Amino acid sequence: MDDDRFRAIPPGAIIPGSMPKFKIYVHTSKGRYMLWAADGNKVSPEQIARLSESGPNEVFISLEEEFKYEQYLEAHLGNILENQSSSDEQKAVIFSRVSTKVVKSAIENSFGLGSMSTDELNRTQMMVENALMFISESHSLQALAKMVGHDYQTYEHATKVLWFTVMFLKDNPDILERIQPDYISFDENQKIEMLRQCGVGALLHDIGKAFVTQDIINRDGPLTEVEWEIMKRHPLYGLAMLLDTDIPSFVKKAVLHHHEDFHGGGYPMNLEGLNITPLARVLRIIDVFDAMTSRRPYKEAMPPGKAVQIMVGIPADKKTEGDSSVQDKRDQGMRRCFDEELLRKFILLLGNIKFNA
Ligand SMILES: [Fe+2]
Repeated sequence: MDDDRFRAIPPGAIIPGSMPKFKIYVHTSKGRYMLWAADGNKVSPEQIARLSESGPNEVFISLEEEFKYEQYLEAHLGNILENQSSSDEQKAVIFSRVSTKVVKSAIENSFGLGSMSTDELNRTQMMVENALMFISESHSLQALAKMVGHDYQTYEHATKVLWFTVMFLKDNPDILERIQPDYISFDENQKIEMLRQCGVGALLHDIGKAFVTQDIINRDGPLTEVEWEIMKRHPLYGLAMLLDTDIPSFVKKAVLHHHEDFHGGGYPMNLEGLNITPLARVLRIIDVFDAMTSRRPYKEAMPPGKAVQIMVGIPADKKTEGDSSVQDKRDQGMRRCFDEELLRKFILLLGNIKFNA
């Protein structure tokens, strides 16, 4: 088989004792791919230990079996994220890959139905549960920093918004109390459940984009007035898709309000201030921050510091020599968008993250 028929995967993705339904190969010093584990066989802990002793930091799968590998990752995500022997960085990559796929599938499979199916919602909730577990580990903040600057795809973006939202709310229980005033009297399980629901909202905030064509979402250039009108309806479409689910109303409202601006002028309803539900005010900040610091089809990623400058209302410098980030009109006019108090708290969170230079 040729090299391009194989794909490298991190050994940490293979859980001892599991029975992957795909073949796993190692790359020999002679440049060949040798079968290391047959499909359907149990991979023993000893086998994995021998692998890490011999040193390869990658094993391989055949591209033909990639979909089986993806299914395996999703089914074993909890174990993979718990696996002590793999790095947070590896886990972050796997987590992002799986959740990107789950959001993509949630959007695509719900599109024809006009509302989100119970199966897709369950998958999404399971994803958030795994995220909560991973995020509670101390180093996941740094792992997240490595993801900043990646491509902006609705799905991958949703994963990063989830990550930031959970981090942010976990550190700021007073905001959770604003979202749900009963929070203060909740027991531990109810608190975790509440955080999970906020995470589901973060993951699904753009689900209404299922009704907007890819051409409009990824346009390399200005949108026409009509196209903007279509784009501006995605929070409304999102609410419609979640209306018949048992997602709590503060999450449904957050999806509807996530493009409303704190000082007015947002869409779809041009609400202001405290009329915008608190979770939506949080999502507004994180959504914009991630969009600005991600590479999009029509622009390079902006450094986090510069994105924050624009968000707090300091005019960005004109493009300077050697600066690859090009400002887009969709990144301007930020001064009026945010609840300043929440923005200040978010900037404090960012201060704890060491971003790549
Ligand atoms: Fe949106």
